[in-house]
Amino acid sequence: MIGNGGHSKVVQEMVIRQGCSVHGILDDKYESEQNIDGIVYAPLTSIHKILDEEMKVVVAIGENMVRKHVVSKLKLPSERYLTVIDPTAVVSNSAEVGYGTVVMPKAVINADAQIHDHCIINTGAVIEHDNSVGDYSHISPQATLTGNVTIDEGVHIGAGVTIIPGVKIGEWSIIGAGATVIRSFPAHSKAVGTPARIINRSLGVVKDIM
Ligand SMILES: CC(C)(COP(=O)(O)OP(=O)(O)OC[C@H]1O[C@@H](n2cnc3c(N)ncnc32)[C@H](O)[C@@H]1OP(=O)(O)O)[C@@H](O)C(=O)NCCC(=O)NCCS
Repeated sequence: MIGNGGHSKVVQEMVIRQGCSVHGILDDKYESEQNIDGIVYAPLTSIHKILDEEMKVVVAIGENMVRKHVVSKLKLPSERYLTVIDPTAVVSNSAEVGYGTVVMPKAVINADAQIHDHCIINTGAVIEHDNSVGDYSHISPQATLTGNVTIDEGVHIGAGVTIIPGVKIGEWSIIGAGATVIRSFPAHSKAVGTPARIINRSLGVVKDIM
């Protein structure tokens, strides 16, 4: 498990419910390795020492950009990342859920939806049929993406957002909590309200951290 903040706490419980055990929790807030109750707590640099061939990794960091940064730094093959799907989530047999993606309790992912890698589909979110959700995106609790919605890489959809069919949200955009989205937005938009309107385009932070 990479990261030990609030999001990680939730994912750790889900991983255990999925029948796996947590071997190590890596976070740069730890200066050295320590073993507490059979779990190794260590800085991120210890990963290659701790990881054996049977173990999988989850980057359990809520911030999309930081999650991408860590995955890029680790340079692990995609299949080393665990896909975590809570047993209470409903995922259509025709939907695809990518490596390292976390699907939280009571989320619903319907027919032919594609959820790419390292996404967070948070508690009770609804991803309707034929949606595409790009790598590193976060769909917050109780958000509803109706049919044929396209979410590009790194987008954060706030809690309780509703998006009408056929809309596309450009990469690294943020949609504020409670918004109703009735039209598409370009990359790096920040939009809020009902109907949602842009309050600040060009978030432009992608290059800074990478
Ligand atoms: C949209 C958001 C990112 C804006 O944050 P910010 O850039 O710090 O913006 P500010 O708080 O400075 O607000 C800017 C303006 O937008 C308005 N605004 C901010 N968030 C809003 C929202 N969700 N709905 C409606 N208006 C909102 C503010 O009232 C302010 O308006 P004003 O200029 O007329 O005073 C944030 O408010 C938000 O909704 N985040 C989503 C949180 C979430 O759902 N997290 C889930 C975690 S699991």
